[in-house]
Amino acid sequence: MSNEFVLSKEVPQHTINQPAHPKHYAFRTEASLNDLYLFTQGQPFELYQTLRENAPVYFHDPMPTDPEPGYWALTSYEDIKFVSMNPEIFSSQYATGNLLTLGEEENRHPRLFQTTIDHMLNLDGEMHLGLRKEHMPFFRPNFVAELQEKVSLKVSALLDNISDMGECNLVKEVSQQLPIFTLSEILGIPEADRQKLVDWMEFLELAQYFAVEQIKQKNEGHSDNTPDPAMIDMFNAMVDEMFDYGKSILQAKREKPSNDLLSAIANAKIEGEKLSQEFLDGSWLLIIFAGNDTTRNTMSGGVKLLHDNPDQKELLINDLNLMDNFVNETVRCVSPVIHMRRTTLQETQIGHQKIGPYEKIALWYGAANRDPAVFKDPNSFNILRKNADKHLAFGIGRHTCLGKPVALMQLREFFSQFLTRFPDYQVNGEWKVAPNNFVHAIQEMPITLK
Ligand code: HEM
Repeated sequence: MSNEFVLSKEVPQHTINQPAHPKHYAFRTEASLNDLYLFTQGQPFELYQTLRENAPVYFHDPMPTDPEPGYWALTSYEDIKFVSMNPEIFSSQYATGNLLTLGEEENRHPRLFQTTIDHMLNLDGEMHLGLRKEHMPFFRPNFVAELQEKVSLKVSALLDNISDMGECNLVKEVSQQLPIFTLSEILGIPEADRQKLVDWMEFLELAQYFAVEQIKQKNEGHSDNTPDPAMIDMFNAMVDEMFDYGKSILQAKREKPSNDLLSAIANAKIEGEKLSQEFLDGSWLLIIFAGNDTTRNTMSGGVKLLHDNPDQKELLINDLNLMDNFVNETVRCVSPVIHMRRTTLQETQIGHQKIGPYEKIALWYGAANRDPAVFKDPNSFNILRKNADKHLAFGIGRHTCLGKPVALMQLREFFSQFLTRFPDYQVNGEWKVAPNNFVHAIQEMPITLK
């Protein structure tokens, strides 16, 4: 990778085509996967089902801020697997990378726009493999096993803290804290700086909502959903602080490397060249977002699933050997990454639908994970499910989640200790989920511990 290589400068030049072929399915619905508020009730599993049954490859309207044509929404397991396993046809790099839209140029956030593109999730081929290889040592079994001891102690300390409270918002006290701790250990972030990451994450989860509502306000005027200008200012300040911090810590690790992932990223050489500043910024954003939010929301989601399914909770408490399968079933049901995006590079066919080159595809993982063709009685939470580990929540193929072993380890540690100490906990109020159709972002989960 030449250190002049900056993907975010190239992708706005790429064009997305209208469908080259007639739509195979006549089905249309008013309901929209672009409606961020739909996702504040949890994921729209009924809509996924309707689409899968009537048009598993459905040509969806573009996101409201998107000047490009719409996208093919995939909701069947086999189709999503097929696309993920064929990166030479379905690119992660062409056009807007993994995002459904970058919006119109005038509306793009100056720092978030560039950094959401310049990282490995949006690379194909050798450059992707090269950068992925630099991350690998920090996700190998020996590294994860060492990390587990520290994670276990951290879980105990977090649970000691909530035990004294009697009731709490689980997200604030535990689900936010543990992934930040674990990630900071992997990255080599000093303890004193870790709380900042928690604050940045909370704002990042709202980025999509801020972007969409600000544009709506410009076009249609103020509404009840228009964010408060003070919140926007705070959001922008947080974004600046987050990137300034990333830049300075990566610089320090470039000059004085140690045995941690940020040092590996700072000094990575792809095709003989160190990463450009843009790729350093983007890699920083990717790792702190991917490594945090996902595990955090699966923890909160699992606590809700067990509360809503007391028979499954009892089964697990009586036999903690079921933990591994429980964790897989939880990741399947929660599916915290809601979608990823690809772009076709050539003429192809998905199921019955012919698709031309440079068309946009969205993979709705939560829909794949509730496909009855693979998961019997897919909406039931069943910790004895034989094929719970066949879910696609971590993706599949070349971009499969690198952090999977770390995520599973944290979830096992958390649930083992939590259920042992608080077997009779209750969710005692409404959960709150951010308006976001990219990650399932649970922001509040009130629980009592008795
Ligand atoms: C339950 C937890 C998690 C879920 C469900 C999840 C899910 C995903 C998904 C769906 C992808 C993209 C797959 C694709 O495009 O084909 C991905 C990629 C990635 N994840 Fe995770 N993730 C989780 C936790 C983590 C953690 C804890 C880390 C790091 C500590 C992490 C780091 C990454 C990275 C670096 C990539 C990019 C891989 C690449 O492009 O080759 N993830 N993850």
